[in-house]
Amino acid sequence: MSITAEHGNVIMAKAAPSPKYLPLNDRLYSYLCAQRSHASDPVLDALRKETEALGDPARMQISREQGTLMTLLVAAIGAKTAIEVGTFTGYSSVCIARGLPEGGRLICIDESVEWTSIARKHWAQAGVQNKIDLRLGSAVPLLQTLESNLVFDFAFIDADKTEYDAYYESILPRLKPNGLMLFDNMLWGGGLGAAAIDHPSGRAIDALNRKLAQDTRVETVLLPIADGIQLCRKRG
Ligand SMILES: C[S@@+](CC[C@H](N)C(=O)[O-])C[C@H]1O[C@@H](n2cnc3c(N)ncnc32)[C@H](O)[C@@H]1O
Repeated sequence: MSITAEHGNVIMAKAAPSPKYLPLNDRLYSYLCAQRSHASDPVLDALRKETEALGDPARMQISREQGTLMTLLVAAIGAKTAIEVGTFTGYSSVCIARGLPEGGRLICIDESVEWTSIARKHWAQAGVQNKIDLRLGSAVPLLQTLESNLVFDFAFIDADKTEYDAYYESILPRLKPNGLMLFDNMLWGGGLGAAAIDHPSGRAIDALNRKLAQDTRVETVLLPIADGIQLCRKRG
């Protein structure tokens, strides 16, 4: 709060409003990772360790608390069917599949045989392999040729950023009313909100954030978790 003098009187100026967000640091991040359900998870810990051994590609893996959030959301909405675009070594797919009931189904789309072979191993270790239907190949053509009767309660988008809008438009008609669609990396490493975005992926993400905010087909909020998650609900 600042104090100013005016005409000989001391005036208490209004306190500047405190920001309604919290910058994270390593201490707080470790704390929030520890204070969640199943913080110690041998299957996910082993998957993270094996993925880290890949070196640079490991940065593509979603964060721990994001995984917990997705399990919680899938279970909270009672999702029975889900789709993921961008599976990599399987962290997000294990988290989604765990939120599904017995008999639930998750379609996973990825073009990498090498990375999804790691995922397959960990699906088996997590005991979720029977819920997962892996479709290998390029995402847009696979989405365009999905069986006509497939509908989803939950969708997670985490592949080629310049194709996110195409994934959105392919999946939204198949998302049930009140179904959820989550998009990863929607804060694009903190590079959005600036005047010029000098990367095609950043520009695509910025355009999609702006589109979603105005899109009357969905209700959406951009969560500052990990690299930013757009959480969209399809309106009924
Ligand atoms: C960010 S990673 C996904 C991370 C994953 N969700 C996890 O939790 O570990 C992106 C994945 O999308 C896949 N991918 C990228 N572009 C693709 C495309 N056009 N079609 C299919 N898969 C694609 C890559 O092979 C990679 O495995």
